[in-house]
Amino acid sequence: MSVPAETVFQVIGAGRVGLALVSMGPAHLLRRGEPVLAQAGPIAVCARNDDLEDVLRLVPADRRGDLCFVQNGLLGPWFTERGLQDATRALLYFAVPSRGAAAEDGGGTVVTGPWAEALVTRLGQGGVAAQVVDAARFEAEAVEKLLWSCVFGLLAEVYKAPVGQLIVERRGEISTLTDELLDVAAEAGLPRPQGDVVGRLVAYSARIPSYQGGLKELPWRNGWFLARRVTPLHGALMAQTTAAR
Ligand SMILES: NC(=O)c1ccc[n+]([C@@H]2O[C@H](COP(=O)([O-])OP(=O)(O)OC[C@H]3O[C@@H](n4cnc5c(N)ncnc54)[C@H](OP(=O)(O)O)[C@@H]3O)[C@@H](O)[C@H]2O)c1
Repeated sequence: MSVPAETVFQVIGAGRVGLALVSMGPAHLLRRGEPVLAQAGPIAVCARNDDLEDVLRLVPADRRGDLCFVQNGLLGPWFTERGLQDATRALLYFAVPSRGAAAEDGGGTVVTGPWAEALVTRLGQGGVAAQVVDAARFEAEAVEKLLWSCVFGLLAEVYKAPVGQLIVERRGEISTLTDELLDVAAEAGLPRPQGDVVGRLVAYSARIPSYQGGLKELPWRNGWFLARRVTPLHGALMAQTTAAR
């Protein structure tokens, strides 16, 4: 099925990702507190993880199947508990450094679910290469993106450096952290990404070198790992950043 490029997206959230998506093609932006419109079509949720509960309250039950989520982090259980496991989801491998800035494509964006094709088309209009994948592949890729957020977010917080500098100066720690978190994820029953995971995380960072990460959305990211098992380097660096705050 081909999806017309003029499909109108409703976009919830006037932040970095929401504004970038609106700039890519026909869209209706919904700012905080504005209700979802009755018009049929995809609804992209571009709020942060901690605001997802509020967003859901704005969405009529019969429109939940149109929601498209773009959040990073460990969201599988949250989706399942709310009956949203079949919703459209995207792993956005791009960086939007500030509100109104264009998306800087890092390559490798994947989308799954009923509106996947429409979202891939829209991202393409905005210069972001993306592909539709099935749910199983998406889950494995979601673990890899989670690792990238946790590893580079933590190292950015500790060393106050953009990802392009971290891959040159902190390669050993990137490798150790990735291995530690991969093991914890596998112990928790998440799919284990195959092949050279560290190489792919480093390659993505190399494509968005000026991106400055940080520790964010802890319960959905590093905090989720810590709650399962405190591993040597991850535990030590997390303790160091907490002490410094
Ligand atoms: N930035 C990136 O490069 C990037 C890349 C890939 C994925 N992501 C993911 O995309 C998500 C959004 O990131 P972001 O960087 O765009 O965040 P952001 O700049 O903080 O923007 C979030 C926006 O959501 C709005 N919002 C919150 N609750 C709302 C509600 N109930 N109704 C309508 N709007 C609401 C916020 O409104 P207020 O302004 O009123 O607070 C804010 O404008 C995150 O989960 C992030 O992990 C980000």
